[in-house]
Amino acid sequence: MGRIYSPKQCREYTDANRQAWNQVAPIHEKINQSRLLNAFSDPEYNTLDDHCLDRLKEIGIEGKSIAQLCCNNGRELLSLKNLGAGHCVGFDASAAFIEQAIELAEASQHTDVEFVSTDIYEIPPVNTGPYDIVMSTVGVFSWMPDLRRFFEVFGRLTKPGGHVFIEEIHPVLMMYEEGEGEEPSYLKYSYFKDDPWVETTGLDYYQGTEYESSTHYSFQHTLADIAMAAIEEGFALKHFSEFGYNISELCSDLEHAEARPPMGMTMVWQKNRRGRKLSTHG
Ligand SMILES: C[S@@+](CC[C@H](N)C(=O)[O-])C[C@H]1O[C@@H](n2cnc3c(N)ncnc32)[C@H](O)[C@@H]1O
Repeated sequence: MGRIYSPKQCREYTDANRQAWNQVAPIHEKINQSRLLNAFSDPEYNTLDDHCLDRLKEIGIEGKSIAQLCCNNGRELLSLKNLGAGHCVGFDASAAFIEQAIELAEASQHTDVEFVSTDIYEIPPVNTGPYDIVMSTVGVFSWMPDLRRFFEVFGRLTKPGGHVFIEEIHPVLMMYEEGEGEEPSYLKYSYFKDDPWVETTGLDYYQGTEYESSTHYSFQHTLADIAMAAIEEGFALKHFSEFGYNISELCSDLEHAEARPPMGMTMVWQKNRRGRKLSTHG
């Protein structure tokens, strides 16, 4: 199990990370927003990859209430609205990205969708649902200092018998560092790294814009950390896939390396129908 941080420390990490995400928001807005505003005028527009859509369709999207944790600019949640989802709520710590999401929601003309700017660890009671599906997609776990508390949020927001859908960077990929220029990515970090990455590199994963970011903090979580956090919240694993192809921009050259590490994964967890946490201690 990774290092344990107090709620106060988690809040300090989120505050720092929020600042870094708010800094990159205008850069992403410039790159994406006008294209997305145009795209969401089409009621069938969808940005979700097949490896997500296949799983979500298996769970069933039509009419379902869906919450997305760390929804960024909301394009994935709005895509699910276009596919027939019911009431949808997206949460993100960055007010600047939430503003972009609200603008996209207006362009899509969906009314039954809300975007809330909040630290995921402090979602207001009025927004806790519960929901049929609670999801997070690629690039979220590493921003969470405390994965157990993050899964408590999944637990609180999911209806008994409801589902959690996760798409994530595989924890093994987090062991690699990007090579300089044409150099290949290489193994650098322990799988069990238990101190944060403390960085000031820019967060523009679309075009790699170089700028000095405010300091941000990210965290490694092993597969066992993830599985135990979900199990302790009373979730049962319904589906697990690992991908050898690039689902994020991290070390994408490894897709073609001779020794291919796992790069991405999807998981579907179902909450205990009686809504109770399971005891893992006998
Ligand atoms: C990699 S991004 C987005 C993930 C999503 N898959 C996407 O592509 O739109 C991670 C997001 O997590 C948000 N975030 C990080 N820490 C958070 C926290 N503690 N509470 C809420 N949002 C957080 C950031 O503001 C950012 O928008």
